Amino acid sequence: MKQIISIDVRTKKADVARCRTDMLVVGRFSDDSGSDEIFRKLDEKLVGAIDRLRQLGDFTGKPKTHALLYGNRKITAERLLLVGLGERRKATLDTLRKAAATAANRAVDLKARQVSLALHRPFADSLDAAAMARAIVEGVYLGSYRYDEYVTDTEDGRLSSLSAEIVDSNASQLRIMAPGVEAGDVIGRMQSHARTLANRPANALHPPALAKAARDLTRGLKTLRCTIHDERQLQANRMGGILAVGSGSQNRPRLIILNYTPANKPARRLPAVALVGKAVTFDSGGISIKPAQDMDQMKMDKTGGIAVLAAMRAAAELELPLRLLALVPAVENLPSGSSYRPGDIVTTYSGKTVEVLNTDAEGRMILCDALAYAVQQKCDLVLDIATLTGACMVALGQHKAGVMSNDDDLLDDLQRAADDSGESLWPLPSGDEYAEEMKSKIADLKNTGGRWGGACTAAAFLRQFVGDAKWAHLDIAGMDGIQTPVAHAAPGATGFGVRLLVTYLMNLRKKK
Ligand code: BES
Ligand code: MN
Ligand code: ZN
Repeated sequence: MKQIISIDVRTKKADVARCRTDMLVVGRFSDDSGSDEIFRKLDEKLVGAIDRLRQLGDFTGKPKTHALLYGNRKITAERLLLVGLGERRKATLDTLRKAAATAANRAVDLKARQVSLALHRPFADSLDAAAMARAIVEGVYLGSYRYDEYVTDTEDGRLSSLSAEIVDSNASQLRIMAPGVEAGDVIGRMQSHARTLANRPANALHPPALAKAARDLTRGLKTLRCTIHDERQLQANRMGGILAVGSGSQNRPRLIILNYTPANKPARRLPAVALVGKAVTFDSGGISIKPAQDMDQMKMDKTGGIAVLAAMRAAAELELPLRLLALVPAVENLPSGSSYRPGDIVTTYSGKTVEVLNTDAEGRMILCDALAYAVQQKCDLVLDIATLTGACMVALGQHKAGVMSNDDDLLDDLQRAADDSGESLWPLPSGDEYAEEMKSKIADLKNTGGRWGGACTAAAFLRQFVGDAKWAHLDIAGMDGIQTPVAHAAPGATGFGVRLLVTYLMNLRKKK
């Protein structure tokens, strides 16, 4: 099978206008006068081509626009890509990330092996250099990614590697950027890996295959340990929720457990964070079967779990000073003679009983076992991430994931991680009035609420399993994939949550 593109990133001390490269990339704000000296130098070499573009109105620096210019004998770059950054006062790290992604996307399309990025320059006085470098490197991964493992037609072969460099003539600036490049490299690579796992179809990526992928992720890292619970252990532990949802498929369920403990233990007690991710490798709805339209998209119902796995490896590679426990219940939700049914009452790991009213509300059935287990392991913080409800998509569209929490500080920290990572969140309620709707007459809980507020009642259901632990739930339904290509990304899985989770964990270090 085809390997995904391999990326090599570095910093380079050079004069931008004299850079020898396949593609030189510079950014432009829509409201800048154009007096930037780099532009002046480049325009001089291109005998006014940049200025003509502007005068014709073909490129004015508006967001989501770019213009490609070809060199002549005076300019050392084969191509010059101008990327629009929009209004200066609206620009954020994500502007930079998307600009780099747009450039990398174009480079792969044009088979330009080497890109030299000078995108950070116009931001130099407003953003931290290391943070900029990280966003740019993440962007390079984001934009260059293609999913073509199964495409056997190699006629117009896709670029197998891309080498990217951040160019600046100031050596001290580059030194400040170095740790950002390293973090961006780890996070970007893991986000791309998450996209590949997520894009894999359910016939290839079933629960045992995901368990193997999780084990493979620990390779070469002594600090990361993987334990897989198969059906026997799930039964021994009475994880009734996972077993019930997994009962309909020949591909048997698994509980994937990853542990991370840093090699150098400082004297103080390290905070312990549990990450719980929903991995339904295919969600047909089960006996409460979904309509045929777009059911193929339900191979993406595993993306919460995949984001957790990828974030764990990134955290371990970055040697974050935390203890981490990842729990990823992996099941396939199919209808068959052995499936769980509407009306069944399931005893979950916590001992709480749940009346199943809809087998398509399966995410909460597997998460409740994993959450109860996480709380039992005495973690200080418990985060779960799941493509949990269509209702969340109805509420927020495909621009923001929902976040529900029982702790305001945790909510603030997540909101900051969302801002830093460009993976956006919006708070939704999950309190007692919603929990009330989840009470059953013949069991402790039922697995569906009333007609309205489905994202909130689902979160309220999960909340019943975390006791007094500080907890937050991320409903990422709708964020898992894009159907049509955009300038900064190919269609398919987005890897949503990898940047957000790793950024949240990295920020914890700064906080303490
Ligand atoms: N995986 C789905 C949620 C989903 C829907 C994600 C669309 C992405 C796109 C989840 O398991 C589900 O089916 N939820 C039901 C819950 C309902 C039966 C209470 C839903 O949202 O309709
Ligand atoms: Mn479902
Ligand atoms: Zn689902």
